Amino acid sequence: MEYEKLKISTEEAGKLAQNLFNVQGEIFPLPGEIDFNFRVKVPDGDGYILKVSRVGEDIGYLGYQQKLLQYVAAQKGNLVSPLVVKDVHGNEISEYKDSSGNLRKVRLLTWIPGRLWSGVNPQLDSLRFSLGEQCGRLTDSLQGFDHPMAHREFEWDVAQALWTKTHLNLFEDDEKEILSHFIDAFQNNQDSYSKLRKSVVHNDANDNNIIVTEELVEPQVRAFIDYGDAIYTQTINDLAVASAYAIMHHNDPLEAALPIAAGYHKSFPLLEEELEHLYHAIAMRLVISVTKSALNKIKEPDNTYLLVSEKPAWEVLRKWYQIHPDFAYFSFRKACGFTSHPKENEFGQWAKGLQFSLRELFPTIEADDVLPIDLSVSSEWVGHQEEFNDLDFLQFRLEQLQKEHPNKIIAGGYLEPRALYGTSSYDKMGNNGRESRTVHLGVDFWLPANTPVHALFDGEVVTAVNDAGDKEYGGLVILKHQVNNLEFYTLYGHMTVASATKNKVGDTLKKGDCIGLLGNYPENGNWAPHLHFQLMLSLLGNENDFPGVAYYIQLDVWKGLCPDPNLLFKNTKLEPSQTKVNDALVDYRKKHLGKSLSLQYKVPIKMVRGAGQYLMDQHGRKYLDTVNNVAHVGHENYAVVKAGQKQMALLNTNSRYLHENINTLAEELLETLPPELSVLHFVNSGSEANELAIRMVRAATGQRDIIASEVGYHGNSNMCVDISSYKFDGKGGSGAPEYTHIFPLPDAFRGKYRGKDSGEKYADEILPLIERITSKGRGVGALILESIISCGGQIELPDGFLARAYEHVRKAGGLCIADEVQVGCGRVGKTFWGFQLHHVVPDIVTIGKPLGNGHPLAAVVCTQEVAEKFANGMEYFNTFGGNPVSCAIGTEVLRTVKREKLQENALEVGEFLKQKLQKLAQDYPVIGDVRGQGLFLGIELVDEALNPLGDKADYLANRMKDHGILMSTDGPDNNVLKIKPPMVFSLENAEELVLHMGKILAEDFMQLN
Ligand SMILES: Cc1ncc(COP(=O)(O)O)c(C=O)c1O
Repeated sequence: MEYEKLKISTEEAGKLAQNLFNVQGEIFPLPGEIDFNFRVKVPDGDGYILKVSRVGEDIGYLGYQQKLLQYVAAQKGNLVSPLVVKDVHGNEISEYKDSSGNLRKVRLLTWIPGRLWSGVNPQLDSLRFSLGEQCGRLTDSLQGFDHPMAHREFEWDVAQALWTKTHLNLFEDDEKEILSHFIDAFQNNQDSYSKLRKSVVHNDANDNNIIVTEELVEPQVRAFIDYGDAIYTQTINDLAVASAYAIMHHNDPLEAALPIAAGYHKSFPLLEEELEHLYHAIAMRLVISVTKSALNKIKEPDNTYLLVSEKPAWEVLRKWYQIHPDFAYFSFRKACGFTSHPKENEFGQWAKGLQFSLRELFPTIEADDVLPIDLSVSSEWVGHQEEFNDLDFLQFRLEQLQKEHPNKIIAGGYLEPRALYGTSSYDKMGNNGRESRTVHLGVDFWLPANTPVHALFDGEVVTAVNDAGDKEYGGLVILKHQVNNLEFYTLYGHMTVASATKNKVGDTLKKGDCIGLLGNYPENGNWAPHLHFQLMLSLLGNENDFPGVAYYIQLDVWKGLCPDPNLLFKNTKLEPSQTKVNDALVDYRKKHLGKSLSLQYKVPIKMVRGAGQYLMDQHGRKYLDTVNNVAHVGHENYAVVKAGQKQMALLNTNSRYLHENINTLAEELLETLPPELSVLHFVNSGSEANELAIRMVRAATGQRDIIASEVGYHGNSNMCVDISSYKFDGKGGSGAPEYTHIFPLPDAFRGKYRGKDSGEKYADEILPLIERITSKGRGVGALILESIISCGGQIELPDGFLARAYEHVRKAGGLCIADEVQVGCGRVGKTFWGFQLHHVVPDIVTIGKPLGNGHPLAAVVCTQEVAEKFANGMEYFNTFGGNPVSCAIGTEVLRTVKREKLQENALEVGEFLKQKLQKLAQDYPVIGDVRGQGLFLGIELVDEALNPLGDKADYLANRMKDHGILMSTDGPDNNVLKIKPPMVFSLENAEELVLHMGKILAEDFMQLN
């Protein structure tokens, strides 16, 4: 019979609800594989679901589902499940004849409010954990339930999945290879799999059968619906089914599966032997799914519901195929609180009785003690990456260290997070942005090239290769050892290729035999000579390689698989160093550092290293920095670091002595400015620059009244706070002081006047302020303004505003100060200074943040006239301002901007990014405005009525952080995301930013209601 003919209309369904169950309400059809389902919305209460069977449906099967639901409902515990509603005659299953005269069975169940899993975005670990937890609860409440129908033949039962084998012919060769691989493995495991505990399980927790709570942030799984697939099978299959669907659409499906297993184990403790089969059971559910899709395409081509999972199922299968089953097993074990390797404790116990001397590993080396070396992300010894990468220099430094400690072996590194692995093969896109392999799994012994390495145990050679490539192992040997029933491996990396490959796979070595010699660069993988020595309890199927460095998020699994090599030597100096946990740092800070210092992000990050446009935390997680316009030419730019270091080693004094550096910086800075601005004073911060600028105004005009913008910020000193509406009109502030006069924020998007032609109107808002000042018998001192108002929310000054504002102020006898602390030094792209965008020349310019690339260096530039008036006899002395170190740094920053064409880069990348963001704004109306110049951009989030959406901006910034991208929010309503990255920000970085932002903009919380 054709599918269409079996269909039940909405109208018919409404009548059924009314006639059979005396329920009246609005009817909506729902998808379903077997039944025809309708939602019945009633005015009070959650309503119902009406299920009409297909023609000829077995009453026994329907009765089974009703009994099962009643069994679950009768269990204690906080499990939500649909309840059976009897018809007007008291039947659990009702009957009626459809229009074609077929007898149809009808059931009514209570409706469970919430959202379908398939409509929830994002699906985070916490949600998947709750999925596992609820699934475990359901398994638990079905314990003891049985029914003849639970023992039927069923194609969706993982235990019966081998039927799929006969349909391999439906697939292309590459697909067939994957399917056969899983089917064969499943078949081979039947012995132990068939002995796993069994029970009746739900068996169909797919995207459309899971109900999630309504919260848009941190929702939880509430219940499962549709019990029609319940079956008596291996209990673990229930978790496998739930996992198979919930890991779809993730870059790393295994990582996505772990919280589900952990949640399930919490409410229904799993056995180790069950976990051993979970990876394959998940695979088999997907194998069933794609085979069913392939068959259904032939059988019922119109029924698209049957095909929804096909593409994502294939995506997971392809990725699953790349994961070693043992690694999945160990990961599931760890997620459920077991040791990652089953023999981990046994190995530890056995190793307790061992005591090796380092001489046994290196008989030609006299030393037996260790000099620990810190190569962690934060290590000062590693220093600048650029220097560490210079192998001759590194080797020289190691030799110097060795000379200072002749009787020790320089060693360490087990579980050390390192940032040394710069090659992209160490990076991957995880479920939350870029992940880098950073955690070192072995111990490194830094010894001269050609040092012989000897075996500590009898062993069999399982690997002896040249693992060629930059930062690979070079000559590599892996030995397999068998002690009683304990099997483990030792790995020796960075050997000479000849000595490593002299060993042949299958050779046996005796304790004390020479394994090979330490190699030198480049043949040892391009490292300073050292031995990478690692223990492993499993080879994870590797033949010619084995990871020596792991992803931080997998650390707990790897640490069990690769035990501490120091279990053999028991040298306290080889113990991994303990770093202070972030909580301790937060606690101390709260008690002993200024109470009004804020910390970024709900979960603060500890940053320990910078590199270009990236910052790294102590675990080596790399964050793309779109916030830090202070690291103007890139975090820890090598040329700048060197310039500072070199001058620091020579001389650092105040500016009372003659020195080239202050003159050079002055000269190079003045070259970038209009000729009218020709006198410089160097200071140490933006605040100090503005402070000095205001002093100059008073000296030059004799006036102290300052005109400034609403939500402007100019610094943290007394005088600067007094002219910063952002502060005195904000939290803890007490309004504008007598001598400060504020005009409305010239915001052409959402301000007092709107549109491109609002410049004049905003400028004329200055006129009443001037009038107020003069009416009090005083004169105007100055106008101070940023060229793009940063704290105001990246407000671009409307066309014509600045020139007219300057005109008004100058007419009244005041000076004009351009605060370029945020936007200066090429950032705006089209011009070197922000004020140049508006074709004006200020009387005073203050420069801060970018000039020192993080070193405290700032400057005030003024006209000769202002400078003359300021020099009224009172000496201007500044202990640090203009010192040779600061000036060397400032000069190198300016030179780097020119040499690396960073202003041009700001223009190109900024324009590209702005366009991409404007495109995003078309798709996501929550973005009301994208504005700014060069690499100084703002994204304003508003609703349809232009009301600010600060909570959404905060959510977006925090979610971007979760994806490894740092962003900040600002503006009077905190609804503007600011983008002002180091100027080395590239087109690829811009693409990455937009990609992740697009994903997050699609999340539920970001939608306009
Ligand atoms: C526009 C502007 N001016 C001045 C300052 C003060 O600079 P500093 O923090 O270096 O004292 C800031 C700091 O954020 C600023 O944004």
